[in-house]
Amino acid sequence: MSKVKIKGTTKITGVFGYPIIHSLSPVFQNSAFEYLNLDFVYIPLEVKPKDLKKAVDAIRIFNWVGINVTIPHKKEVIKFIDELDETSKILGVVNTIHNVNGKLKGYTTDGEGFIRSLKEDGKFNPKNKNIFIIGAGGSSYAICGALINEKINSIFITNRTFENAIKLREHIVTKLNFKNIKIIEFEKRNEQTIWENIDLLINTTSVGMKENDPLLIKKENIEKVRFVYDIVYNRKTELLKTAEKLKIPYLNGLSMLVYQGAISFEIWTGRKAPIDIMKKSIYEKIET
Ligand SMILES: NC(=O)c1ccc[n+]([C@@H]2O[C@H](COP(=O)([O-])OP(=O)(O)OC[C@H]3O[C@@H](n4cnc5c(N)ncnc54)[C@H](OP(=O)(O)O)[C@@H]3O)[C@@H](O)[C@H]2O)c1
Repeated sequence: MSKVKIKGTTKITGVFGYPIIHSLSPVFQNSAFEYLNLDFVYIPLEVKPKDLKKAVDAIRIFNWVGINVTIPHKKEVIKFIDELDETSKILGVVNTIHNVNGKLKGYTTDGEGFIRSLKEDGKFNPKNKNIFIIGAGGSSYAICGALINEKINSIFITNRTFENAIKLREHIVTKLNFKNIKIIEFEKRNEQTIWENIDLLINTTSVGMKENDPLLIKKENIEKVRFVYDIVYNRKTELLKTAEKLKIPYLNGLSMLVYQGAISFEIWTGRKAPIDIMKKSIYEKIET
């Protein structure tokens, strides 16, 4: 348990979201501040969509150092800040704001957080690999972009709503200039031939968050891949249970959650994030 001491000099960081009560970020961010003896604190801030502009004004008024932005504000917040990093410009979302002398700069750390987690915790380098991604929502955009920067060979994408997968392909081909991408119709996702050369399977959907959520990919196909990543982080999903049974290396979303937060921490403090401390604090809180 973190024992952050708040003083007149304490620099304030936090997260805007709605709802926010389940956020795990205060746990690992405050543990990191405490470990490095930094005079910072991280607080959860419930912000209703109608109040987002006022909340962003508060960052300037109270001179808060940095704010994470989560569901449902990641897109909308762009309207109210001053500058965007390249990734946020391309994706049209922000999950981290840094206040430098009243000027608010937006970043998005999900994609880079995913890659750091995959390489450092998963010991899996995606370079030249063939990737199968389930989902075409916000996190899929971030993850696809970051994987393309890592010089992967190909991406296969399947999504419940076909049009959303098509939009993601359009984005990848036109904005990221990556052509080796194939959309698989959701109903055809388990056709065996697709799975012959897949190295990495990633679930970017919310399927798995609930107890009885189905396994979207058949066991005989999961068996063929070399690594499984499920970005869901509230429980061990059927996908991960299956990977475990098959002795295929896997990671859950807690790892990505910590790394994306670590990058925010580094932006705000200029210090290297104590990843092991952050992980320990969160693993103590959640059973995986
Ligand atoms: N570990 C981390 O750090 C991290 C970071 C970000 C997000 N996440 C997690 O990732 C998940 C997705 O987040 P997001 O921000 O990408 O959400 P999002 O933009 O709302 O996208 C949701 C995705 O899930 C699909 N989906 C939802 N219900 C489905 C169902 N019953 N069957 C099949 N597909 C379904 C959607 O398909 P349609 O297009 O058909 O609606 C869409 O592709 C959430 O569980 C979130 O908590 C984790």
